[in-house]
Amino acid sequence: MDTLTTRRKFLSRSALTAASLASLSPVSGAEEGNQQPQFKSPGKPVIITRETGDATVAEAYAMLLQGADTLDAALHVCAGRENDPNDHSVGYGGLPNEDGVVELDASVMHGPTRRAGAVGACQNIRHAGLLAKKVMERSSHVMMVGEGAERFAIAEGFKKEDLFTNDARKIWLLWKENGRGWWGPGIDSPDWKPPVDTPKGAIPKAALMPRHPAPDQAEMVLSEMKRLTALADRMGIPSNLHREAVREILWPTTGTIHVSTLNAAGEMSGATTTSGLAWKIPGRLGDSPIIGAGCYTDQDIGSAGATGNGEENIKVAGAHTIIDMMRQGASPKEAGMEALRRIARNYNNDMTRLRYLDMIYYILRRDGAYAGVSLWSTRGIGSQKKFVIHDGTLRTEPCDYLFEGTTLSIHPF
Ligand code: GLY
Repeated sequence: MDTLTTRRKFLSRSALTAASLASLSPVSGAEEGNQQPQFKSPGKPVIITRETGDATVAEAYAMLLQGADTLDAALHVCAGRENDPNDHSVGYGGLPNEDGVVELDASVMHGPTRRAGAVGACQNIRHAGLLAKKVMERSSHVMMVGEGAERFAIAEGFKKEDLFTNDARKIWLLWKENGRGWWGPGIDSPDWKPPVDTPKGAIPKAALMPRHPAPDQAEMVLSEMKRLTALADRMGIPSNLHREAVREILWPTTGTIHVSTLNAAGEMSGATTTSGLAWKIPGRLGDSPIIGAGCYTDQDIGSAGATGNGEENIKVAGAHTIIDMMRQGASPKEAGMEALRRIARNYNNDMTRLRYLDMIYYILRRDGAYAGVSLWSTRGIGSQKKFVIHDGTLRTEPCDYLFEGTTLSIHPF
C-alpha cells in the first residue's frame, strides 16, 4: 500500500469535516504498518499551561533552550505553583478536604522514555509533581497513594511539612460554617435536583447565552457573594481574605496546573499537579493523578492535560481521548472540543446540570500546534477562560469554548 493510500485509509476512519482535514498540519505520511500521522517537530521549544503569575514559564523555556529534559521543565512550572501559599489549588497553601487535611494528587508522563508516574491523596509533601516523577524513576510502579506515597517520599528524601496555611484554614472555616459539602446525590445522579436558588425559567440555548455574565445568573451570584462576605466578616476573617474566601466557597478550587512541554528535538512531556477539589470527601481522587485523564503524553503525537471537574474528566478519559483524536487526524482544537462534547453527552446535553461544570484542556501537538479549550467561555462574574503559550513568545490567549456563557458554579449547592 503506498503512503497516500495508507493516509487516505487512515483519514477515512475518522469522522472529520472537510474543514478539519484542511487544518491537518504536517503529516509526512504514515509508514507501512504504522497508520498514524508523523508529526514533525517545529524545531523549537513550546510550552502550554495555565496562567501562573510568576516567572517559571519563561524560566522553563530557557531551560529547554539550554537542553533541559522536557519533564524537568514542566515540573519547574509546577513547583512554582506548589510553592506559592496564595495559590490555593496546588501544593503548599492548597485547600484541604472536608476534614481540613491537605491531600495532593499529581501525574507525569515522560515522552522520550514513554514512562509515567503518579501519586494520589498524598499528605505532607509539597511537591507532588516531583514525587510522581520519583515514583516513575525509583519504583516499579506507576501510581502510589496515601500513606504509602508519603512514606515513599520520605524514604526518597522529600521533606515532610504541614501544607495547611493560616489563610487556607480561614477559608476552610468559612466553608464549614456555610455547611455545603460534596456528599451525594452527585450532579450526575438521577436523584440530583437543581438547587432552590437556581435561576428559574427556560435555560437559554447555550449558543445564545449572553456573556459577562448571563443575567439570570448575576443576581443570584451577587446575593450569594454578599451573604458569604457578611458571614466571613462575622467570623472575624480579615477583609483582605474575603474575596478569595467567598470565591472558593462559590467556585471551589479545581484550579490545578497542567504543563505540556516540547523541546527543539521534538521530545515531549506532561505534568499535572493539584490539591484537588476543595472540601472533597477524604480519600477522593480527581483526574489529576489519573494517567489518561488529567495528563497524557504520547511522544509521537502530543501531550494534553486538564483543569476542572475531575470527575467529569475521568469519565471521558479526557487527555487520552484528545491524544487519540489527534492520532486520527484531528487538530488540537477539534480534539479538545470532542472531549468536551463527550462530557456534555454524558449529561444528554442537559444545560441545567452542565452549567455547574467547568473544564479546560491544554493541548500541544508534536508539531507545535496547540489549543486551550474550555466547556464554558467565562467563569465567575464573566472572566474569560485563558491559557498560556510560550513558543518563543510568551503570551496568554483566550480559550476556544463549547458553550458561550458563564459556568454558574462548580458547586451544585
Ligand atoms: N481537576 C482537579 C480535580 O478535580 O481534582
